[in-house]
Amino acid sequence: MPKALNVAMIGGGFMGKAHAAAYAAMPMFFWPAPAIPVRKVIVDVSHELAEEGRVRYGFEEASSDWRAVVRRPDIDVVDIVTPNDSHAEIAIAAAEAGKHIICEKPLARTAAEAKAMRDAVGKAGTVNMVAFNYRRTPAVALARKYIEEGRIGRILNFRGTYLQDWSADPDSPLSWRFQKKVAGSGAIGDIGTHVVDIARYLVGEIAEVCALVQTYHKTRPVQSGGLDKLGAAEKNATAARGEVDVDDEVVTLLKFDGGAIGSLEATRNAYGRNNFLTFEVHGTGGSIAFNYERRDELQVMFADDPADARGFRTVYTGPAHPYGSGLWPIPALGIGYTETKIVECYDFFSAVVGGIQPSPNFEDGYRTACVADALGESGETGAWIKVQQ
Ligand SMILES: NC(=O)c1ccc[n+]([C@@H]2O[C@H](COP(=O)([O-])OP(=O)(O)OC[C@H]3O[C@@H](n4cnc5c(N)ncnc54)[C@H](O)[C@@H]3O)[C@@H](O)[C@H]2O)c1
Repeated sequence: MPKALNVAMIGGGFMGKAHAAAYAAMPMFFWPAPAIPVRKVIVDVSHELAEEGRVRYGFEEASSDWRAVVRRPDIDVVDIVTPNDSHAEIAIAAAEAGKHIICEKPLARTAAEAKAMRDAVGKAGTVNMVAFNYRRTPAVALARKYIEEGRIGRILNFRGTYLQDWSADPDSPLSWRFQKKVAGSGAIGDIGTHVVDIARYLVGEIAEVCALVQTYHKTRPVQSGGLDKLGAAEKNATAARGEVDVDDEVVTLLKFDGGAIGSLEATRNAYGRNNFLTFEVHGTGGSIAFNYERRDELQVMFADDPADARGFRTVYTGPAHPYGSGLWPIPALGIGYTETKIVECYDFFSAVVGGIQPSPNFEDGYRTACVADALGESGETGAWIKVQQ
């Protein structure tokens, strides 16, 4: 029987829900499971919130003191699903206590914070992962497989977007995601980093960026009490307004170490786009294209396709593709957000049990944070910025 490993999950919001669902479901999908994640303790800012999370998400215990919890000898894994301003402090304490760590993205508010986290886990020698789950969509992993097998040839161009519209209404609430001291940056860190992670996964290191960065809505209604609120459905046009001091929108050109070029756009204000995380890669041997809103599908064309059948074809992911043996037995039965988190959980616990570092780990999270910092700097100066490596 797989070994049971105790998880302390810090935070019980949007991502707490996703991670708790993955802990429960991972062994149901991937059997034999690498380990059985035991939902041991959930921590939130108040005992009431933690207790609600305990009942709702199936944890054994609730606490409002993460410092005490991460030091407990019976905890094997610390899962950080809090807003970005507490990632570094919790991760460094957990590393010093010798825990394996999975931390939500972006790893930190700045590259300097991410570096301190990377150094702490390096010193501790524990397994670490940053939760860029979109690369664990089977169609995205299939794109990587085609590239690794050389079926796209030498990569020439990467075009990535992450467009949403939940903050397009200027009266939608002042979530922590609009406050620099909590979030670090806006669209760049929140969603742009997912595209950076995919670009690094598929193409390699980003060497230089040249970005346009804009903040259109400079204030939003302050929200009161309880959990973070997002989107136009939560709008309150009569509430007092607070300052937005992060970016709304980034558009950038990219130069990769390997010689490829590309572009990236991210915004949470694009009416009509919901979770439009897309990429298109073209190389000397073919092209691949992906849109998360149609996440069972990968569009492919190979240069040697017959002349009378040229054009993109749709591959529906299923048992023949990455993670297919653990997911559903028929292609296109339906991959969802939860499945990406189940796969992430499987890869994380496989790494813990196997004593290897998974990818993306804190080193990857740090390198992605370096790109995010470079985007911010380029947005301010208008110059091409070399990414610190
Ligand atoms: N991978 C993804 O697709 C994805 C999606 C959304 C959010 N995220 C990331 O996940 C993290 C959490 O975001 P969210 O959307 O779940 O936020 P959220 O606001 O919905 O939830 C955050 C939770 O953490 C709790 N919390 C805050 N500070 C705490 C502290 N010091 N100790 C204990 N609990 C604390 C809050 O009370 C709340 O329960 C962020 O880093 C965010 O960028 C990732």
